Amino acid sequence: MTGDEAPQTKSRIRQATSFDASLLAALHKACFDNAEGEAWSDSAMIQFIVSPSTVTLLATIGPNSAEPIGFVIARKAADEAELLTIGVLADYRKTGFGGSLLRQAMLDLKAGGAGTLYLEVDETNHPALALYKRLGARTVGNRPGYYESGKNAAILSIDLQSFPLEASTR
Ligand SMILES: CC(C)(COP(=O)(O)OP(=O)(O)OC[C@H]1O[C@@H](n2cnc3c(N)ncnc32)[C@H](O)[C@@H]1OP(=O)(O)O)[C@@H](O)C(=O)NCCC(=O)NCCS
Repeated sequence: MTGDEAPQTKSRIRQATSFDASLLAALHKACFDNAEGEAWSDSAMIQFIVSPSTVTLLATIGPNSAEPIGFVIARKAADEAELLTIGVLADYRKTGFGGSLLRQAMLDLKAGGAGTLYLEVDETNHPALALYKRLGARTVGNRPGYYESGKNAAILSIDLQSFPLEASTR
């Protein structure tokens, strides 16, 4: 299945609101349970949600789109933007939700005037690298030993102006 096909169950991508802060923190914890770094708090999530320079989206499924299963947070500064985090619950991965979330965030960032999106990722995180490259990311650098584990970070960028973005179908 590609990220452009409709899933069997009704799904939706929407802006997160302040009421979603705890939910976002829980989703982030579930998606990064075994990863490095500290958990992101409810208050950190509220800061992202209320900031006008930050795009914070939730993917939901179910009859009333009530079940949250993924998120993306990206921040814009002048004409550049940075992907802060993206995650999809393990049971729903590889069915296109990550692509739909990132594509919608790219649309929103582009509409807000961003020309380039930067993405930083553990260079052994193959699902994330594959997702970013599928959406047009190019490797522009690396940070050796960037993570506590000693792993290297890859720096990628996506040209939002020239990339043919279409509205998400989810
Ligand atoms: C990275 C992540 C968000 C991808 O979400 P997803 O919903 O599985 O992504 P999609 O289903 O939209 O996949 C998009 C593309 O990524 C690639 N991909 C996804 N999962 C993959 C995997 N396990 N192995 C290899 N490629 C993979 C595929 O190329 C896929 O394209 P396709 O639909 O043509 O097969 C998800 O794996 C995740 O939450 N990981 C844990 C958190 C994380 O590491 N976040 C990134 C760092 S911030």
